Amino acid sequence: METLSVLLSKARLESASYPGVVSSIGAPAPRRIVPRRVIRWIVSQFLAGELATAAFCERMAKHVSDVQAREFLTLQGMDERRHAALYRWYLECLDLTPAPSLSISKCYDAALSPSTHPLAAILAFHVILERDNLRLQSIAETWFGCRVYSEMGTRIRRDEARHVAFGRLYLQERLPLLPLTERQEIYRWVRGLWFEAGREILANCLVPGPADWLLEKTQWPSRIRDLELAGLFSGEEREEFRRL
Ligand SMILES: [Fe+2]
Ligand SMILES: [Fe+2]
Repeated sequence: METLSVLLSKARLESASYPGVVSSIGAPAPRRIVPRRVIRWIVSQFLAGELATAAFCERMAKHVSDVQAREFLTLQGMDERRHAALYRWYLECLDLTPAPSLSISKCYDAALSPSTHPLAAILAFHVILERDNLRLQSIAETWFGCRVYSEMGTRIRRDEARHVAFGRLYLQERLPLLPLTERQEIYRWVRGLWFEAGREILANCLVPGPADWLLEKTQWPSRIRDLELAGLFSGEEREEFRRL
């Protein structure tokens, strides 16, 4: 696994070499079969996520004591603002205005709340929401069938993979030190947050079937693995957490 120094070097390099002009990618042309309202909804949620993550990183950068983590979060905040600019530009090119979902915005607000445990917030943003965005971005690329959108996704994914790796590394050193009851509380909180966002995504992306059952059976197990990798519980504790 990469160390924080390696991740930081990559972040510095990436930040210094980021192309400034987004329009150089070309003109967006999603497949006509994809309804405009679906494109608007999906891209708007990515945009809202980028802005919320940027705000979170900027705030966390002022609070963490580790110098390298602070610099990484500052650079990540800049990455997220650049991603947001790409999504905003994509919507503008298609003459669409952003339409953030109220339910999903509420999830971001909960994670951003100063009353949320900082490690729970990092877990939500860096491990769960970022990973989900990575997965959803790939699905959206297939749906849209748009070369420009896929090109944006390639740029964004490289950064997001680094952000997820940072979150995992940072949490692995800290989460296991929390008492069991506190970790259980974080598990319940993050699970509730994720299901709330998941229901909203399914409802808006025309996926049929009972949302909770679908999420529980097909999606939550891989989030359980992500949470374990981030150090929220050990392999021995997994079943106990799963039953919470
Ligand atoms: Fe991002
Ligand atoms: Fe990110």
